[in-house]
Amino acid sequence: MKQIVFATNNQHKLEEVQSLLSEQFQIISLNELGFKEEIPETQKTIEGNASQKSHYIYERYNMPVFADDTGLEIDALNGEPGVYSARYAGSNCSFQDNCNKVLNNLKGEQNRNSRFKTVISLIIDGNEHQFEGLVNGKILEEGRGEDGFGYDSIFLPDGYEKCFAEMSLEEKNQISHRGLAVRKLVKFLSTDIA
Ligand code: IMP
Repeated sequence: MKQIVFATNNQHKLEEVQSLLSEQFQIISLNELGFKEEIPETQKTIEGNASQKSHYIYERYNMPVFADDTGLEIDALNGEPGVYSARYAGSNCSFQDNCNKVLNNLKGEQNRNSRFKTVISLIIDGNEHQFEGLVNGKILEEGRGEDGFGYDSIFLPDGYEKCFAEMSLEEKNQISHRGLAVRKLVKFLSTDIA
């Protein structure tokens, strides 16, 4: 089995991605590597942050590594929170604080169009490859559902009646930004690298 580092300590992301990768690959988390620092994310774009994270780990461990960066882009907020999705409501804010800030900023707004965008940066054999996943949807008027994380409770993907937080992991993975990007990564790993 090939080992590949996923440069995250987000347990939700680890579960989502492990369930999509075939048994050919064993994902090593940052915890398992004994890496305890926070990886810098100082770039102005989702692509830039994904790349910064994967390079940071590759330079220290010299193992195949991938990192993802995700943003929620809301049309009526000029693409916010975008690259600032994690700390939209301030440093140390909770997922709920971020959702509340979005809902407040969209109060009375008819245009609820938005999208999740994930970029995965893979570094293998010293070369970087990027994979993108996009899912369009609408921001709900108020949060729903219990599962998921982040903005899942306020994001209704186009063509579905359940928001992300009302879907099982499998349902979300089928259509989500990260699911799409990971499937491109898996295809690449199993056809171009294997
Ligand atoms: P990250 O930089 O990739 O960790 O993502 C930034 C922020 O986007 C996270 O802190 C979450 O608030 C949000 N986010 C990322 N992925 C998802 C998702 O699949 N559902 C809901 N929110 C997400």
